[in-house]
Amino acid sequence: MAKVLITGATAGIGRETALHLANQGQEVFASGRREDALRSLEAESAGRIKGIAFDVTDPAAIDAARKQIEAETSGYGLDVLVNNAGYGQGGPLEQLSDAELRAQYDVNVFGLMAVTRAFLPQMRERGRGRIINVGSVAGSIALPFLGAYASTKHAVQGLSESLRRELRPHGVEVIVIRPGAIRTEFGQGEADGMEAFAGAESPYGQQVKTFMKWHGQLHPRAPKPSVVAEAIYHAATSRRPRPYYVVPLTNYGIIWLQKFLPTRWVDRVIETVTGLRNA
Ligand SMILES: NC(=O)c1ccc[n+]([C@@H]2O[C@H](COP(=O)([O-])OP(=O)(O)OC[C@H]3O[C@@H](n4cnc5c(N)ncnc54)[C@H](OP(=O)(O)O)[C@@H]3O)[C@@H](O)[C@H]2O)c1
Repeated sequence: MAKVLITGATAGIGRETALHLANQGQEVFASGRREDALRSLEAESAGRIKGIAFDVTDPAAIDAARKQIEAETSGYGLDVLVNNAGYGQGGPLEQLSDAELRAQYDVNVFGLMAVTRAFLPQMRERGRGRIINVGSVAGSIALPFLGAYASTKHAVQGLSESLRRELRPHGVEVIVIRPGAIRTEFGQGEADGMEAFAGAESPYGQQVKTFMKWHGQLHPRAPKPSVVAEAIYHAATSRRPRPYYVVPLTNYGIIWLQKFLPTRWVDRVIETVTGLRNA
């Protein structure tokens, strides 16, 4: 039975993953900022999940969580850390404030690294462990008006590549899960960010509105978070985890197009699919 911490487990992919791993007999610690959501997760798991509230941008709270997990595991710590907490800041890059851009990096990049640094040393010293970072297809493809988010996922991908190579000699595997659109609260968060720039006062207003029309259909029709939970379970427990898991598999097509088509063609495809070509 592996001892696993999943960040961002109060909703969506993290919540589904916590329940799936607990159902498969793993010892699961689940985190997020919302205490009430953690209590309801504990109740739904019939006490098999332990909720520990912390914000991934709060170093003192991360340290307190590390100490609590050490105490609960008789000093052992974790076998598996799933860095899943994150959100998508929508909006045209020219118009996003520095504060909005920094906040996006604080959660998706610096938060992920801070939690990793808190739990990695014991894994490295034992010569065994897994860090599973939830990236995104947006770590390869940056859509317009979602550039802040996409850039953080490019960063997660780069950091994970180096970490994987640094930690392999120490017996710690680093794995990136790369979901495409998934049916969670996440899409609404992106839309809320874009909405602020969809009015006539924004020079991008018409384009943002057009893009939002396409984006609004994406997440409600997307696969359920259980497909990601299954990939994370495989990454956490299989004897030979893969460095990357693209979920669902159909998203490989998008990544390959980006890799092998001329860049201007990819731009055209994105403009056509999103409706921006005529906006
Ligand atoms: N859904 C998609 O289409 C999709 C696609 C590709 C990648 N992803 C990635 O998958 C991960 C999970 O997304 P999701 O779809 O499950 O989104 P979600 O339903 O909105 O859940 C996001 C989770 O992150 C937590 N979180 C956000 N800010 C936090 C902070 N500062 N500190 C601690 N926890 C924080 C939230 O908990 P609290 O609010 O309680 O703090 C919540 O549990 C993200 O990294 C996202 O980028 C999602």
